[in-house]
Amino acid sequence: TIYPVILSGGSGTRLWPLSRGSLPKQLLPLHGERTMIQETVARVGVPGAASPILICNDDHRFLVAEQMQEIGLAPSAIVLEPMGRNTAPAAAVAALIAGENDPQAIVALFPSDHVVGDEPAFRAALAKAVKAAEAGNIVTFGLEPTAPETGYGYIERGDALAEAEGAYKVRAFREKPDVITAARYIAEGSYFWNGGMFVFRADVMLEELEKHAPDILPPVREAVAKAVRDLDFIRLDAENFGKAPNISIDYAVMEKTDRAAVVPCSIGWNDVGSWSSLWEIRPQDEAGNVLQGDVVVHDTRNSFVHSEKTLTAMVGVDNLVVIATKDAVLVADKGHAQDVKAIVDKLKAKG
Ligand code: GDD
Ligand code: MG
Repeated sequence: TIYPVILSGGSGTRLWPLSRGSLPKQLLPLHGERTMIQETVARVGVPGAASPILICNDDHRFLVAEQMQEIGLAPSAIVLEPMGRNTAPAAAVAALIAGENDPQAIVALFPSDHVVGDEPAFRAALAKAVKAAEAGNIVTFGLEPTAPETGYGYIERGDALAEAEGAYKVRAFREKPDVITAARYIAEGSYFWNGGMFVFRADVMLEELEKHAPDILPPVREAVAKAVRDLDFIRLDAENFGKAPNISIDYAVMEKTDRAAVVPCSIGWNDVGSWSSLWEIRPQDEAGNVLQGDVVVHDTRNSFVHSEKTLTAMVGVDNLVVIATKDAVLVADKGHAQDVKAIVDKLKAKG
C-alpha cells in the first residue's frame, strides 16, 4: 500500500500578513477555490493509495479536520505534533505509523503548500518514484532550476536506475547552498531543484535515520508509542517528541544517504514561498498586475495588490506588493519579497 503523508507544520512567514501562525498558508485558498492542503490531498489520491495521513500542529487540529470534511475526505489519521520539530522528526513519525502493520509500506511524503500545475505529469512522476522506492531508494522529484534560488535543495543526477525507468541515483544532495554555489550548480547543468516531496519504504527511512541521525528515532518512537489515539487523531506524547532535535529531513538524511534517487519531472511546480512567487502564478492583467479585492489602480505595473475590508488605490508605481488585511498592511518591493520574514521575526521579538 502507498500511504500519502501530508506535512502541514510550516507557518509560511513570508506570506505575512495573510499567512499567520494561527492560519498558515497551507490552510488558505491562495491559488484556486480550495485551500492549499485541500488541493494537495485531492492531488495525491492515486490508485493503490490509502487515504492520506496528515501531520500538523495540535493548534490546527480542528481547522485541518474541518477542511477535510469540507471536501468529503476521511483521512487515515491526523497526527498532532505538540510542537514543531521540523521535517526529520515528522518523516520519522510518518515511517513509524505507516510501517506499523507493514514495515515495507511505501510512504509518499508531501508538503501541504505547493502548487502543481500539471497533474497528469505529477501522477506519472509519482508512479516512477513508487517503483524506485520499492527497490529501496529514497526518491525525490527533480525540477529544472530556473534561477540560483538559495531556499531549495540541489540534486546532482547520477546513473540511471535499472529497477525504475525515469529514475536516477543521486550523486550529491546539497540543501540550501549559498547563491554563488547555486549559480555554479545551474551553470554545470546536471543539477535539479529538490521538489520537497519524498517517496520511500518505511523500513528504508527508519534505517537511514538510524544511520545518519541517531538522535531522532528514540524520542520519536517513544512519542508514537505513548501517543493518545482518539478517533482519527493521534496525539504524540509531548515530553518525548520535545526531545527530538529540530532538523529538516534534507539535512538529517538526504545530504548523507547513499540510497537517494531522483525522478526528473516537469509538473508546473511552484512552492508559493513568497508574494513574488504567488504573483508569478496568478492571472495578471495587461499591465502585469494581480489585483484581489477592493483595489483601484492608475498607471501601475507588475504589482500584487490584495485588499480586504478597505479600498486600496495605487498610482504611478511599479513592482510593488501591497497586502491590506483587517489588521495589518504590508508594502514591499516585489524584488524583496523574501525579506517579509524579517518583519515577522521583528514582530515576534516585540512579543
Ligand atoms: N508536520 C510538520 N511539522 N510539517 C512541517 C514542519 C513540522 O515541524 N516543518 C515544516 N513542515 C512542512 C511545511 O508545512 C512544508 O509543507 C514542508 O514541511 C516543507 O517545509 P519547509 O519549511 O517549507 O521547507 P523548505 O521550503 O525550507 O525546504 C524544503 O522544500 C524545498 C522545496 O520547496 C526542502 O525539502 C528543500 O530541499 C526543497 O527544495
Ligand atoms: Mg517550503
